[in-house]
Amino acid sequence: MAAIDNIDACVFDAYGTLFDVTSAASHCQEELGEKWAPLAQVWREKQLQYSWLRSLMGEYVPFWQITQDALDYAMATQGVENDELRKKLLDIYFELDAYPEVPAVLKTLKAGGQKVATLSNGSPDMLQAAVDNAKIDLDGVISVDEVGIFKPDPRIYQLAVDQLETPKERICFMSSNAWDAWAAANFGFQVVWVNRFGQPPERLPGEPRDMISDLNGLPPLLGL
Ligand code: LAC
Repeated sequence: MAAIDNIDACVFDAYGTLFDVTSAASHCQEELGEKWAPLAQVWREKQLQYSWLRSLMGEYVPFWQITQDALDYAMATQGVENDELRKKLLDIYFELDAYPEVPAVLKTLKAGGQKVATLSNGSPDMLQAAVDNAKIDLDGVISVDEVGIFKPDPRIYQLAVDQLETPKERICFMSSNAWDAWAAANFGFQVVWVNRFGQPPERLPGEPRDMISDLNGLPPLLGL
């Protein structure tokens, strides 16, 4: 018997889970030198902070704007002032690389009869560009943009229930962002935490059903 059964849809977080958020800065190592890794880290941390802060402030702007604001902050922390490099980093981020296992895992899930979708903070244009670049076939590319607030607001998780017409307890949700995994479990999804970065568990409401280190671990959990 599968560890997680009675699942009709697999829903994935996008950034950090399907798409490698560090790949933009790592593609610019020649220009950035050893600053590429701290820049990538501050860029990501600030991007998430701005999403939470703007949600609390009631000051939503699309994630693509937040991504640019966070990059400007990150470049300032590293003392990097270079408009051409800024444009290059953003161009790459717009259609980020998928993690290597993603296309094959999604194919296995679809062949096993699962609906497959992404549910993300990302604006529709950036999400579609990354999906097209990765050449993956999804049943839903669901963006927070239509609600105008970011994860972990429960209304965002409800979007997947509504758009996939699948009850929440029959949705398996995957995120490498631990806070997102915990919040999705608290909402009522069956959650598999993709602990790509070997982090400790969150101390938040919600409990993931399982933990894997990359997405290759998912099909066996579902008996596929
Ligand atoms: C997303 C962010 C949380 O894709 O990575 O929603």
